Amino acid sequence: MTDNKIATVELGRGGPQVGVQGLGCMGISEFYGDTDEVSARETLETALAAGVTLFDTADIYGGGANETFLAPFVGAHRDEITLATKFAIQRRDDDPHYRGVNNDPAYIRQAVEASLRRLGTDVIDLYYMHRRDPNVPLAESVGAMAELVEQGKVKRLGLSEVTGAELREAHAVHPIAALQSEWSLFSRDVERSAVPAAVELGVTVVPYSPLGRGFLTGSFADAGKELSQGDIRTYQPRFNGDNARRNAALLEPVHKIAAAHGASAAQVALAWVQQRAQVHGTPVVPIPGTRRSSRLLENVGATRLTLTADELALLEPIAGRVAGDRYPDMSSTSAARE
Ligand SMILES: NC(=O)c1ccc[n+]([C@@H]2O[C@H](COP(=O)([O-])OP(=O)(O)OC[C@H]3O[C@@H](n4cnc5c(N)ncnc54)[C@H](OP(=O)(O)O)[C@@H]3O)[C@@H](O)[C@H]2O)c1
Repeated sequence: MTDNKIATVELGRGGPQVGVQGLGCMGISEFYGDTDEVSARETLETALAAGVTLFDTADIYGGGANETFLAPFVGAHRDEITLATKFAIQRRDDDPHYRGVNNDPAYIRQAVEASLRRLGTDVIDLYYMHRRDPNVPLAESVGAMAELVEQGKVKRLGLSEVTGAELREAHAVHPIAALQSEWSLFSRDVERSAVPAAVELGVTVVPYSPLGRGFLTGSFADAGKELSQGDIRTYQPRFNGDNARRNAALLEPVHKIAAAHGASAAQVALAWVQQRAQVHGTPVVPIPGTRRSSRLLENVGATRLTLTADELALLEPIAGRVAGDRYPDMSSTSAARE
């Protein structure tokens, strides 16, 4: 670490160096309640000053609003940041819960132009397929993504929520720099086949929702009772009702370990992801999402926290005991195809 900045890691073989923690920008525009946009802008600057360089968005976040929100920041810091966005999920105006998946090459060519326009840039550093549509041959979709690299619209490719077999298949068409999947103390499906494949192929893993969408920090215990209407977590099985009660009890060792280090539960959760990745032998760039500078600094502070073997052992059984799925509909996740 130099100049108080966090350490860096390579993003895919031969890729750029990025800070070992990135910033998830999704919550700025949607899903987790109201946002103070001034604080959110400040958080982006705080992140960059702390050495966070991977900024994560997607075309569906806020129906394009998240990419548009990022545009001035991208313009001001284009060469200092690694900008990641995604395509594939389609929504419908008449049903806020509808999610379609589109991996057609023609759609990909259209989606990239729209993202470039909203982001106000002529190149995306890392372009992800957000979800896999098994009706379109993967080689065709990745082939279309590879053409974007040839055309200079995209620098590197990534995949989200794919299985190990899919990652191998895609990598054979064009090198994949990053795998973005949910990975946290509560969500370890990815360790089954995707992480081992990433290690084998030299793909950097980008754990999303590493704070379990905030639940692991202890900031809420029952989404249905404590969060605002429309907050996506009020629809997620593991954060509501009996499941939430059981799951909140699983956090006891997290709080105990945090207290022993004078750290926060969020820091323990983030340190766990880094150390679990080391066990697998993969570099990781978790992308916790926050709209507050104070939390951003707290989260990057986790890169200086090391958990002991005894503490890791206490945390090991948690994921296996979590009640309730990650999503109300798991059909487009990698777990559904494994
Ligand atoms: N590929 C995919 O399918 C996919 C799916 C979901 C998310 N993502 C990406 O991953 C990013 C991160 O995931 P996420 O935002 O879903 O979940 P997360 O990072 O696990 O948690 C974010 C939540 O935790 C709160 N939080 C952050 N730091 C905190 C701290 N130190 N103490 C207490 N609370 C804290 C945030 O609130 P405040 O903002 O109010 O601080 C927010 O509500 C997203 O922004 C998005 O870019 C990708």
